[in-house]
Amino acid sequence: MILENLKEAPKDPILSVSATCRLDENPNKVDLGIGVYRDERGITPVMEAIKLAEAKLLQEQSTKAYVGLAGNEAFNTSMIELMLGDSRSKERAVGVQTPGASGALRMLADVIKSSAPDATVWLSDLSYANHAPIMWTAGLKVRYYPYFDTTTKLVQTDAMMDSLKEAGTNDVVLLHGCCHNPTGADLSFEAWKTITDMAIQQGFLPFIDIAYQGFGDGMEEDVKGFRYLADRVESYVLTGSCSKNFGLYRERTGIAVVAAKTIEQSNRIKTRILEAARSTYTMPPDHGAELVNIILNNPLLKSNWLNEVETMRLRVEGLRSKLASALRDKSGTSHYDFIAQHKGMFSVLGLSVEDAHILREKQSIYLVDSGRINIAGMQESQIDYIAESLLSL
Ligand code: LMR
Repeated sequence: MILENLKEAPKDPILSVSATCRLDENPNKVDLGIGVYRDERGITPVMEAIKLAEAKLLQEQSTKAYVGLAGNEAFNTSMIELMLGDSRSKERAVGVQTPGASGALRMLADVIKSSAPDATVWLSDLSYANHAPIMWTAGLKVRYYPYFDTTTKLVQTDAMMDSLKEAGTNDVVLLHGCCHNPTGADLSFEAWKTITDMAIQQGFLPFIDIAYQGFGDGMEEDVKGFRYLADRVESYVLTGSCSKNFGLYRERTGIAVVAAKTIEQSNRIKTRILEAARSTYTMPPDHGAELVNIILNNPLLKSNWLNEVETMRLRVEGLRSKLASALRDKSGTSHYDFIAQHKGMFSVLGLSVEDAHILREKQSIYLVDSGRINIAGMQESQIDYIAESLLSL
């Protein structure tokens, strides 16, 4: 009988960690699993700018009729502006609103598959846990390029570029725009320049995933490398997420962007994304996108929002340096100093799967099996406990 042969699906490596943590009755448990920002009370707040935009929306929205396959076009334009800024490639970029950036990853993967059925997507080793499953499910092949040096905890740029010499016109190279997930180790500006030259010479398609704009060095600084590339390559695809920088996690607000050689070509590709969306989910949810659109087009709300993101960024930066110095003081070594250099929400600490399980079972500290911790989910009051637990391994 149909369906009877199905075995239970394996647990999701990220989502299952926080689900298990919720069941833990230890009052001192620490959830460093899924990537959400929390304040010192351990709460993921609704941002003030979002609250104000919601009040405005409640007053002004007159219909809940369907929007259209591309979602909220004003949101698409505003997000392209936010991510591309003064990049010249903006003139040939088109966007489609998607259910979260995962939706965008999948739509772009589907379109790549239609255009080049044998294409290979190169992912960084390590990469976001959902990158490979999305690409595989779309029928694409996946290869990994060396990225994270487990000794230095930095990007192994030479090995990365060496490996990517093999990427050609049937290849897609996926790069994290900033705040690399899971490692926290970002490409240098020099590395962005090199990869740009390689894309031009070798003809591979750059695929940029930007999920944490504003959490690294700042809203503009975080996209400097990407914009350098965007201005020089013939074509690229891009995904953007509003989960973290607008705190809209559950509203599933994302965007898929294509910049081809000409705007006509980009528009043609857009119709293919819309076709893929129609046969998957039809239209994305509107609420989050309209809030983002309201904020980005209202100077006062925009400046409030930028301040709030900057506050979150500085708090995460502060947590990084406090954890690094607690580990330095308690261990008498500089072994964990890299935590303060990493960018964004996450760091990979170089722990084994067994270490992650020991921390979970003995100390009620929940992290992803890859050894990724969500620094942005930590409270200052937990730092000593986390540092001591790490050093007890
Ligand atoms: C994460 O990496 O924890 C987040 O991006 C949440 C997710 O969808 O996996």
